[in-house]
Amino acid sequence: MIIKNARFYQNGKLANKDIQIEGGSISAIGSFKGKGIDASGLFVFPGLIDPHVHLRDPGLTQKEDFHSGTRAALRGGFTTVLDMPNTIPPTTTKKALLEKRKIAGKKAVCDYGLHFGATKDNFSEVEAAKPPSLKLYMGESTGSLQVGSYAAMEKHFSTFPKDKPIILHAEDADTIKSMEAAGLGRGPMAERIAVLKANEAAQKAKRVIYFAHTTTAEAASLAKSRRDSLVEVSPHHLFLSTDKDLRYLRRRSNVYPPLRTEAQRTALWKMLPRVDTVGSDHAPHTLEDKAAGAAGFPGLETSLSLFLDAYNKSILPLPWIVERMAQNPARIFNLKKKGQIAKGFDADFTLVDLREEWTVRGRDLESRCGWTPFEGFRLKGRVKKVILRGNLVVDDSKIVDEVKGEEVL
Ligand code: NCD
Ligand code: ZN
Repeated sequence: MIIKNARFYQNGKLANKDIQIEGGSISAIGSFKGKGIDASGLFVFPGLIDPHVHLRDPGLTQKEDFHSGTRAALRGGFTTVLDMPNTIPPTTTKKALLEKRKIAGKKAVCDYGLHFGATKDNFSEVEAAKPPSLKLYMGESTGSLQVGSYAAMEKHFSTFPKDKPIILHAEDADTIKSMEAAGLGRGPMAERIAVLKANEAAQKAKRVIYFAHTTTAEAASLAKSRRDSLVEVSPHHLFLSTDKDLRYLRRRSNVYPPLRTEAQRTALWKMLPRVDTVGSDHAPHTLEDKAAGAAGFPGLETSLSLFLDAYNKSILPLPWIVERMAQNPARIFNLKKKGQIAKGFDADFTLVDLREEWTVRGRDLESRCGWTPFEGFRLKGRVKKVILRGNLVVDDSKIVDEVKGEEVL
């Protein structure tokens, strides 16, 4: 197969070439004869990678499962997703990991990896399961998964292999409790304290840590004061704020960490050059669960378009998207054959029309939850075609084929 007239970034420069695919991999880049997929008028990204999604399987499949969640991924332009461990049961034992692996193997229609969860005492399980990454909740979020103490965190920091990342949900448990008791909600202080403590412990253990969904410029720059600390941002903290959006979100506005003020949101934008990745934190809940206070937003099907819209408004360069949504996640999570358009890499591509405008509607989405915090947003930039290991799975913005997803880690 050949992708004709592909416009993409090659070694930092805009190229316009044909891409030849053999056996699911990129076999050559150049100029080739023969028929293929015509990419004229579209921009080609390496298949995008979302390192932070909650596919809810097993145990919470009324919200999402590996099938609906990976369909949402494809539709949003992601060919690889990394799933979070706060399922039921949580992915904190070797048994639970094997069980989840089996389910994903049956249902997933894009490639995936499975993050493992850290608890106060599951050190031997981590060692037995040998997961590619470890997720550590410093404070409470959806589900009961938490590391429980700074002592347990330090022990995970020193025992988990140094060449694999530890992902942190950085909100300090005690600060959350005292702030909530005082009716203050989860202020940015909970995040700042957690970042400070995690950086200090990571420095001592000489290891790489990765801060998930960083919400403020202060937390991000504090994290970045250390070379081996990586920073992820999520679209909702960049495109929604408490001043602007709370009224229409109403009972659906809860997310951890919370949305911040408009001033904090715009300050976070200024940190983007130093940010390492985008993670959607796709955290679908049913509307019923949202009304009862569940925290989290679906994000897979809006993440890329929000950034393409920002590109169209000249506030974000395209290479930033390539780096933060493909190259960097692949490098950080050791996905050796993903994240680049180059010979030998998997033939995963996300083809977008940078000019097409569309309106976000919850009812049109693949995610089982059926709603979105971006309802009614008019966005310029849309996923048109997605190719997964050489298979055209999305065409004309719709899913046209399903192939079996593979575990990448
Ligand atoms: C996530 C969820 O629902 O699983 N919720 C959220 O508000 N972000 C959990 C998480 O990532 O903290
Ligand atoms: Zn989280």
